[in-house]
Amino acid sequence: MKILIENGTIVHATCREKANLLIENDKIVYIGADRKEADQVIDAGGCFVLPGFIDTHTHLELSHGLFGQDTEAAVLGGTTSVLEFVNQERSQTMRSGYDRWMDWAKNSTTNYGFHMSFSEWNERQEPQLDEMDHLGITSFKMYMVYDNIKMDDGEMYEALKAVKKHGGIIGVHCENDKLVECMTKDTYEAGYHGSEGHPMSRPAAAEAEAVSRWMRIAQMANAPCYVVHLSTKEGLDEIRRARARGQEVYIETCPQYLTLTEERYRDVDGTKYIMSPPLRTADDQEALWQAVISGEIDFIGTDHCSFTTAEKEAHKEDFRQVPNGAPGLQHRGQLMYTFGVMKKRITMERMVALLSANAARLFGLEDRGEIKVGNIADIVIWDGEYHGMITDTNHHHNCDNSPYAGMEVCGTARDVLVNGEPVVRNGKLVSGQHGQYLHCVAGEHYRQH
Ligand code: URP
Ligand code: ZN
Repeated sequence: MKILIENGTIVHATCREKANLLIENDKIVYIGADRKEADQVIDAGGCFVLPGFIDTHTHLELSHGLFGQDTEAAVLGGTTSVLEFVNQERSQTMRSGYDRWMDWAKNSTTNYGFHMSFSEWNERQEPQLDEMDHLGITSFKMYMVYDNIKMDDGEMYEALKAVKKHGGIIGVHCENDKLVECMTKDTYEAGYHGSEGHPMSRPAAAEAEAVSRWMRIAQMANAPCYVVHLSTKEGLDEIRRARARGQEVYIETCPQYLTLTEERYRDVDGTKYIMSPPLRTADDQEALWQAVISGEIDFIGTDHCSFTTAEKEAHKEDFRQVPNGAPGLQHRGQLMYTFGVMKKRITMERMVALLSANAARLFGLEDRGEIKVGNIADIVIWDGEYHGMITDTNHHHNCDNSPYAGMEVCGTARDVLVNGEPVVRNGKLVSGQHGQYLHCVAGEHYRQH
């Protein structure tokens, strides 16, 4: 099967070109001015042709439909690959987590790779890393918070040293657990029981302290590392300090920290914004945008969790019980285009770097993240002229709410190909459930000194 995409503007991470693109089966086989023979022709006139977006941070296991419906939502927004967190339960093997997630991912419409989340570090862990290499897992996550999965400083140090030997990388959810526990108690006892209590219980300083500690642990382990879902200026400043002393650090932030602020917790539907870390101030948001613009932030993940309104509102009188997380898988491209490109903060090229190319490099997706001959044809035809509004229900996520409801947005994924197969045509899902497992290799540590 040959598909020609003609008349579009192909955007790379550093440049763009007006060219046609020929796909044969799942691969890009030609880029140039010729109008090659094909079985199917897609006219991309007036549109951008982009590498399929890669979401670096999903929690599809918290979705009721697991990978099913939410990965359909993903492709409708231009995301062709997700990197999902697999949990290794305490005293279980990493392999058992991998097997569980592989089973859940069978009906995935996007391609899917895994980051392995450790919940402990001991002498049984390091020998399992060879098996992870063989299975194509080279990136890992650790939490400083949440009972049953949080790790202490020594465990994180030992894990870093071991993963470094394998050329892998670890990202950390940075919040100071004990202080969050104390502040949650103080906030509740002071009478703040509803969603307004949530940001008070997890202040910026709790993130900054944890980021600073994670940076120092990585410094002592002499290992590269990354920070997941960075939300504060103070945390960013800690990473800047680490980079200034020569450390190799990568940063992920999320659309919610770039487009929403903590005032939302006072809304009647404030529970839908309960996520950790919480939404922050306008100053934090501006600092994160400046870091996106300067290139200090490497990639944008959603931290997607599709909890329903009923699940959230069941605990509206007690913020401590509300499930943490919000849906965003479908809207990441649209939000970065609207608030980044259309507001002239970033170029299309930078959007490609943030949504696709940098993740492919760091997480070792060798033949994705870039439109080039020989790469797999994960392609988005992006219509930049589209205007619309996100509502609680006009998306395809497996839930009935969106933190972005009411936002006017521009740009949409008109057509999407996953592994060379058209799955979205004119904004409609036409195929699905053929996502492939992404066998990651040790990534390119492009900030290495
Ligand atoms: O609130 C969030 N983000 N829930 C998902 C788990 C996590 O902290 O990443
Ligand atoms: Zn997290």
